[in-house]
Amino acid sequence: IKNIGVFTSGGDSPGMNAAIRAVVRTALYYDLKVTGILRGYDGMIGGDFLAMERRSVANIIQRGGTVLKTARSDEFRTKEGRKKAYDQLKSQNIDALVAIGGDGTFTGAKIFYEEYGLPVVGLPGTIDNDLLGTDFTIGYDTAINTVIDAVDKIRDTAESHDRLFIVEVMGRDSGLIALRSGIGTGAEAILIPETKTDIKALLARLEVSRKDKSSKIIIVAEGDDAGGAFEIAKNVKEKFPLIDTRVSVLGHIQRGGAPTCMDRVLASRLGVAAVECLKEGKTGEMIGIVNGKIHFTPFGQAIKHNVDVNKELLKIVEILSL
Ligand code: F6P
Repeated sequence: IKNIGVFTSGGDSPGMNAAIRAVVRTALYYDLKVTGILRGYDGMIGGDFLAMERRSVANIIQRGGTVLKTARSDEFRTKEGRKKAYDQLKSQNIDALVAIGGDGTFTGAKIFYEEYGLPVVGLPGTIDNDLLGTDFTIGYDTAINTVIDAVDKIRDTAESHDRLFIVEVMGRDSGLIALRSGIGTGAEAILIPETKTDIKALLARLEVSRKDKSSKIIIVAEGDDAGGAFEIAKNVKEKFPLIDTRVSVLGHIQRGGAPTCMDRVLASRLGVAAVECLKEGKTGEMIGIVNGKIHFTPFGQAIKHNVDVNKELLKIVEILSL
């Protein structure tokens, strides 16, 4: 390979810039050309390319978001869209790709690789941590730290006013942000899409803990089957009209901000590995880190998340939140 194209796609996540920086500098280290592709698959189709040098990625390791911008592309889902993208890449002599993103990004990369055979490896970039084949995704650590920072503040008000707060966190299909941030903030309950939410049991639990606790925090993932924070608040208010209940939806603040050191180092390791793997002829795989070591997972498997939630963490919630 001679010219690597790098792009970010899907929802942005803190640490994507650190990953881009690592890919660019590693490619240059090995005397390869590297081209930035703007706005993910949309930019690939539109031929939005940027020649990258060492200085193009200076001073970005600490920045949230993605300097290459990102998008969720409808056109790339079509055969014609992918053909246009391939032609654009060929016209620039881009002969390998590093895709940074989540399940949507890898679904696209898998189809593209199967259709055109262009070598492509993926780096897990999403705050949701919902990919199989890596202990952590780039951005997850920053997001859960943002959540605990916010919930600690909410706890001050909850404590002062003897209130119950229902805090909704991100995770359309995944409760992993809720799970870890819930443990980290000592939440009284954590509701996630991977396990069936039993509102009756939740209310019974509140009944028991109500008397001796002045503040309560329930963390709910946006994709939980109980219908979101407002619906749960309605149920609580009906059963306990005297509990002063409030809802707080944290939203996109969870996606922004400077990446934590963990995310910067993770992104740097993965970015270096991506280029080295392409050089060695690897393709069609997501590169992650499992038990401290670089790990490869075919795209088709990486996107099969939500099969298992860490049982140990669930048990911890049960024991500690009473
Ligand atoms: O996949 C990351 C994520 O932040 C999810 O947790 C969330 O459901 C979704 O993206 C929101 O996407 P958008 O920014 O397009 O509304």
